[in-house]
Amino acid sequence: MQAVVLVGGEGTRLRPLTLETPKPMIPVMNMPFLERTLRRLKEAGIEDVILPAGYLPEAITSHFGDGSSLGLRVRYVIEETPLGTAGALKNVADFITGPFFVLNGDVLTSLDLRAMLAAHREKGGLGTLHLIRVDDPSAFGCVVHDPDGRISAFVEKPERDKAPTNEVNAGTYLLEREVLDAIPAGRPVSIERETFPQLIAAGRPLYGYTTDDYWIDLGKPEAYLGAHRNVFDGVMPLGLTPDIDGPGRESVPTTAIRPPVFIGNGCAVDSSAVIGPYTVLGDGCSVGAGAVVADSLLWDRVTVDAGARVDAAIVASRARIGAGARIAHGSVIGHDAVIEPGTHVEENARIVAVD
Ligand code: GTP
Repeated sequence: MQAVVLVGGEGTRLRPLTLETPKPMIPVMNMPFLERTLRRLKEAGIEDVILPAGYLPEAITSHFGDGSSLGLRVRYVIEETPLGTAGALKNVADFITGPFFVLNGDVLTSLDLRAMLAAHREKGGLGTLHLIRVDDPSAFGCVVHDPDGRISAFVEKPERDKAPTNEVNAGTYLLEREVLDAIPAGRPVSIERETFPQLIAAGRPLYGYTTDDYWIDLGKPEAYLGAHRNVFDGVMPLGLTPDIDGPGRESVPTTAIRPPVFIGNGCAVDSSAVIGPYTVLGDGCSVGAGAVVADSLLWDRVTVDAGARVDAAIVASRARIGAGARIAHGSVIGHDAVIEPGTHVEENARIVAVD
């Protein structure tokens, strides 16, 4: 079994985090999300992985190489211009030898891929789409199907009171190779908006596979933060226990810890600082006397100087929060940004480093 993980998007909604780090490589509990996805594929017995990339591809290729360190065969196809979610599949057609999984590179889910494969084989359709139920489908692609699961319609982002169903496309597909014949070559094509609706219009059998799994699209800062909270609370199993506190936990004074936290390697934290709850420190972070970091995600080598306060924020690698500065809820601080001492950064701010 093969898998294609779509990793070519620009991740505009996650800027400035994605100005230097492509969205699939943003850390989830201090590990690049794509590494967690590839480990999940390996656990499901899927060892042949194709990555259609395009945006900052070196960050991906240099981390995974040929995939052998994860026990996988990983191959890359770099798009010169983005080909869209179906165009990217057409572009890797030469590598595909049979039925294959397609995973959006930004979906965190507890979906059991083996169970989905079994469902696909049982139905015998051209494709099986993972669906989940949501309270408000207006931001998603609704998928209408009969009681047997056979899909009859796709409705993109309907008004809430006009939505035909609350079952939505969850971004994991299992497709027969034949689907690639339906995708035109050489231009951007969206699988959600173009290919799937066309297959349905042509009477081809696509099936929905609806589960109650944990599912979140990490594409926005609040979702990315919220996903961590869900992992800390055990709502999303990530296989971290008993290592939930992280490899660097022992090096941080107990007085500073407000569980739950995840501490990376090589952090230096003053005993009068407060770390947590719901906080991740990446590798090599430093937090000074009396500083508070709560409900926040710090990437690698972030410095929080004495008396600073970081609340429900995301701080990318190597940024520095000056002494006594305040970072308010929902803010995102980009790579290498420096927040001057005493500055108050307002809620939901987006701060980019000045060259
Ligand atoms: P936004 O710009 O914030 O919408 O993010 P995005 O560019 O990643 O788009 P979106 O979240 O819709 O993409 C869903 C998945 O498809 C992500 O894993 C993307 O990396 C991937 N993707 C989107 N467009 C392309 C593309 O043109 N080529 C490839 N190879 N992957 C893509």
